[in-house]
Amino acid sequence: MSNKHHIPEHVAIIMDGNGRWAKQHGKERYEGHIAGVESVRRAVESAAKYGVKWLTLYAFSTENWGRPTAEVNAIMELFCKSVVAESPSLIKQGVRVQIIGEKTHFSDSVLKMIDQIEQTTAEGKTLTLVLAFNYSSRRELMLATQAICERVAKGELRSEEVNEEVITNHLMTHSMPDPDLIVRTSGECRLSNFLLWQASYAEFYFPEVLWPDFDDAEFKKALDVYASRERRYGLVIEDKEAKC
Ligand code: FPP
Repeated sequence: MSNKHHIPEHVAIIMDGNGRWAKQHGKERYEGHIAGVESVRRAVESAAKYGVKWLTLYAFSTENWGRPTAEVNAIMELFCKSVVAESPSLIKQGVRVQIIGEKTHFSDSVLKMIDQIEQTTAEGKTLTLVLAFNYSSRRELMLATQAICERVAKGELRSEEVNEEVITNHLMTHSMPDPDLIVRTSGECRLSNFLLWQASYAEFYFPEVLWPDFDDAEFKKALDVYASRERRYGLVIEDKEAKC
């Protein structure tokens, strides 16, 4: 059960601290997000380099619509520009991009970019980059519950057949493995509505570094921390203490 030398199959990151980074550097908040995109590029390269197969990034939560309009627009524009600028490199690296979240509230141009990036990278085999975009874990669970209830009402499923597998299969992440390691940068120790069901057995790591400063060395540090943990999945492992 020890993770020594083990690379997590799925790393999920809550990219936090763009605003604080911008403030520290005397810049506007949107400039923190621009710097954050550089970190996204680096994290993808690092994940591919170390053999991580799934990298999920929390890019925009459902709650983030409540930010000032200018900031929301800047993030949407950054997403569109990044799709155009990064697609060739992602395809070359064998990165497949998938988006989880609700396809609501987005402008037509953002929806078009979501389609475009998913389609043009669909054949990537090295790494799957999952972008959680307009994502809320509670809403994901609510929508799954509604879909399951409808199936029960139609007689397709009996209520006693609703088990963990059925719930998992109705989530937006149904085709993905659970995250092994969840990282939140900037020293905040919260999940903030991110992968609540899927995080059941994940290891957590909360480095102080702000997202725009998260580089390859920080990624490696996160993998080293993961490798030093012992995952017990509720079982008893003799002669060893669990480490946090
Ligand atoms: C959190 O920092 C960051 C976000 C809510 C947005 C993350 C977006 C990007 C990195 C750019 C767009 C994404 C892609 C994939 C192109 P914060 O603003 O909450 O920082 P703070 O807590 O210091 O204010």
